[in-house]
Amino acid sequence: MSNQTQTVRDGFSSRLGIIAAAAGSAIGLGNIWKFPYITGENGGAAFILVYLFCIALIGVPVMLSEFVIGRRAQKDAVGSFKTLAPGTPWFFTGWLGITAAFIILSFYGVVAGWTLHYLYLAISGGLQGLSAEQLGAVFGGFISNPWQPIFWQVLFMAATIAVVLGGIKNGIERYSKILMPLLLVILVILAIRSVTLDGAKQGMQFLFSPDFSKLNVEAILAALGHAFFSLSLGMGAMITYGSYIQKKENLGATALQVSIADTAIALIAGLAIFPAVFAFGIEPSAGPGLVFITLPNVFGQMAFGSVFAILFFALLAVAAITSAISILEVVVAYLDDEFSWSRTASTFTVGVAITIVGAILSQGNGSLADLKLPFLLNGELIGMNIFDWFITLSDQLLPIGGLAIALFAGWKMAKKDIADELSSSGLWKIAYLEIYRFTVRIIAPAAIAFVFLSSIFGLA
Ligand code: PFF
Repeated sequence: MSNQTQTVRDGFSSRLGIIAAAAGSAIGLGNIWKFPYITGENGGAAFILVYLFCIALIGVPVMLSEFVIGRRAQKDAVGSFKTLAPGTPWFFTGWLGITAAFIILSFYGVVAGWTLHYLYLAISGGLQGLSAEQLGAVFGGFISNPWQPIFWQVLFMAATIAVVLGGIKNGIERYSKILMPLLLVILVILAIRSVTLDGAKQGMQFLFSPDFSKLNVEAILAALGHAFFSLSLGMGAMITYGSYIQKKENLGATALQVSIADTAIALIAGLAIFPAVFAFGIEPSAGPGLVFITLPNVFGQMAFGSVFAILFFALLAVAAITSAISILEVVVAYLDDEFSWSRTASTFTVGVAITIVGAILSQGNGSLADLKLPFLLNGELIGMNIFDWFITLSDQLLPIGGLAIALFAGWKMAKKDIADELSSSGLWKIAYLEIYRFTVRIIAPAAIAFVFLSSIFGLA
């Protein structure tokens, strides 16, 4: 029997705490590292528009569904489905989520480690006075080094494990509440500096004037996959967090606020990066190194640039940790709830296993760069290094999880249960109920299925 039935379930203590924790999960490397580089690879404004569509049409309703499922069931990602639909195979959705969590945290820890290394470089002055080209070489040299990325990844994972060991209220909530707003302030300052650089205009065009001829099916899948990644959806993170939200809280408002905050941060990160990309003559499609190459140039052009560099990389590391803990929490909550593991045992076991897989993945950028795994994209088998392979796999797993979650909330759960949960048993008005139901029953599943099938098999 789950220990949660005997003891009071740990939860978030305040309204601000929930928003901060859920936004802390959503806002992370996805917004500041991944969003800019995939926007760069996929041609800019048109890609961003598709991304915004995915957030509004699919992301927000799926987030709401995850909250509803988790809070209704008061369980982890797998247990929630077992509780709400006993004796059915729906719990596979939870398993898929556990798998996705494992895969995502493996590469997430590596990139978060890069951030720590750059924090170290910023503190030790190692980024100062370098040209764009030199900064590119620094990045390339670092990620292909066999040991350095592992060192920083292990450090980051140790910190993540330490926070998750502290439990929900003491660990996750306390850190998110103060540090996320500070990250926003720093980003806005960086965006202002970037936008006012000589030669920034082309970057603004890249961000704001869409060229739809650059859109292809892969770009649309990347936008969809990233909408899920960025909002922490499709793998039960928000189911797990939903189970910690107090009954009286307004889930609709929470989902909307978290999604808006997440999207705003990504767009501000775009504003901080693209004007500078063009001003310094960096390739927008430079790939995963884009932020690490571009922003040090911006710091170089600012008064107190080295202080900003330190603050920025420190806060990015914090944003990464508040996301990483939510990913680890998915697996930890599962083992605690379903198998009555102690929090210490589950956190250590899973944390260490993910760290080992991540350390191996990090070699995809260096000593194992020639090891290519096949991936089916657009009807073609493409060879990818193990690091990119895991990232691309997560772009596919999350929408599949999201599809199942939308179908579950739309077709399996009773309408009156949904209404009861969304309204906190009549406390809140839920004028949006019908439109929400229509979206999760029809629109979101159809859109996900279409994008997904066409991107894999190249139908469109
Ligand atoms: N949303 C996080 C980011 O944008 O960095 C990453 C993430 C967290 C993805 C939690 C998935 C998840 F369940």
